[in-house]
Amino acid sequence: MKLQAVKGMNDLLPPATALWQHVEATARALFGRYGFQEVRTPMVEATELFVRSVGEVTDIVGKEMYTFTDKGDRSITLRPEGTAPAARAYIEHNVGNLEPLTRWFYLGPMFRYERMKTGRYRQFHQLGAEAYGTLDPAQDVELIALVAAFFRVLGVPDVTLHLNTLGDGSTRPAYLAALKAHFEPLVAQMSDDAKLAFERNTMRLLDSKEAALQEAIAAAPAIVDFLDEGSKAHFDDVRRLLAKLELPYVLDRRLVRGLDYYTRTTFEFVYAPAGDNALGTAGTVCGGGRYDRLVHDLGGPEKPAVGFAMGLDRLVLLLEKLRAPKREGPLLFIGTFDGPERDDALALVMRLRDAGHFVDFDPRGGKLGKQKERASKVGARFFAGYGGDEHASRTLKVDDLSAPKDAPRSEHVSLEALAGWLSKEAQTA
Ligand code: HAM
Repeated sequence: MKLQAVKGMNDLLPPATALWQHVEATARALFGRYGFQEVRTPMVEATELFVRSVGEVTDIVGKEMYTFTDKGDRSITLRPEGTAPAARAYIEHNVGNLEPLTRWFYLGPMFRYERMKTGRYRQFHQLGAEAYGTLDPAQDVELIALVAAFFRVLGVPDVTLHLNTLGDGSTRPAYLAALKAHFEPLVAQMSDDAKLAFERNTMRLLDSKEAALQEAIAAAPAIVDFLDEGSKAHFDDVRRLLAKLELPYVLDRRLVRGLDYYTRTTFEFVYAPAGDNALGTAGTVCGGGRYDRLVHDLGGPEKPAVGFAMGLDRLVLLLEKLRAPKREGPLLFIGTFDGPERDDALALVMRLRDAGHFVDFDPRGGKLGKQKERASKVGARFFAGYGGDEHASRTLKVDDLSAPKDAPRSEHVSLEALAGWLSKEAQTA
């Protein structure tokens, strides 16, 4: 049997990993500036956590979870998302009692047994943020502004914010009754999945891809028409603040999201360029919203919360299309000779690295010309051979690899001055 990565789970190789690192470093810096701190939870959780939060009658829990029994006979699940694990940790560590407001972010792999296509994988990566402790619309808008800033800093174009509200507990019953009455005449034509949704989680029907339901979905009542006063005022405030921050959006009455824990604000950022869409139909690069009851429903205190998660695989795919990832080369590549000075050359490489410089060499040694070729190939800026003469004179002839072939440039630099010289060159790079 030929060994291969599990279907839907990708190896990430250089040079693409450099782009991942760039995205992750940008996230850490930006999220930090917004006052969000990193949380890391385990990759597996008790299955019940997702059943009770994401919801039993959802695609994620119903069809897509990697669930198995461990050796202690417990049902555990590879996390399909990060909100429920973060809420579980927030409750377990009593964080809500220790501080009134908590803002966390996380970054890591999630797992869903989904039908694969461009931008949709079975192991994928999310960058998420969750804020616990306030119902204030300023918190919703801060999170949306954070996503918008992230895309701006990374240079991701053509992303549109879609916005909706699902109201709260007092909105739901009237809306669900209207939705049920709307779909009732179609029950006989529904698949078993859709029938189950109709009975137990009617809002999920709005996500259904079944052909027989599309017309009814398009004509279905919208939750915004059923909002109670509180939810309506909350949504108005969210919209007023978005306008104040000049964050454009489209109102999307059908945006119900695929997870059950949402209340009030829901949003998605969708990549929709004028021409070809590199993400195909997997254009949603971020999804989120409020979930004011989840912490309490999972056994914690009454803590309203709001958050989002971005699909990093999709983001990296887009960035790759915009600019090919480039390997960053060493500042100096040292060529070595067979002989007693080779050890000194290696010691010099290590010393310069300890001094903070990106310096490389070819551990295979060999002809100096070949080593210089290798230096060019890995994108080094300077090359210098270190053999008996250089050792005796304590001086290297440093070639500038960026100089044109017919006008070579080199400089003699003493071993003592080399680290300082590199520092200067690094600044002008
Ligand atoms: P979600 O909409 O299920 O929300 O996922 C968020 C994002 O993860 C999606 O918009 C998409 O970019 C990415 N994503 C989801 N599934 C895949 C996949 N199979 N392959 C590649 N990317 C994928 C949540 O997970 C919520 N926990 C978000 C949230 C946080 N809501 C409140 N706080």
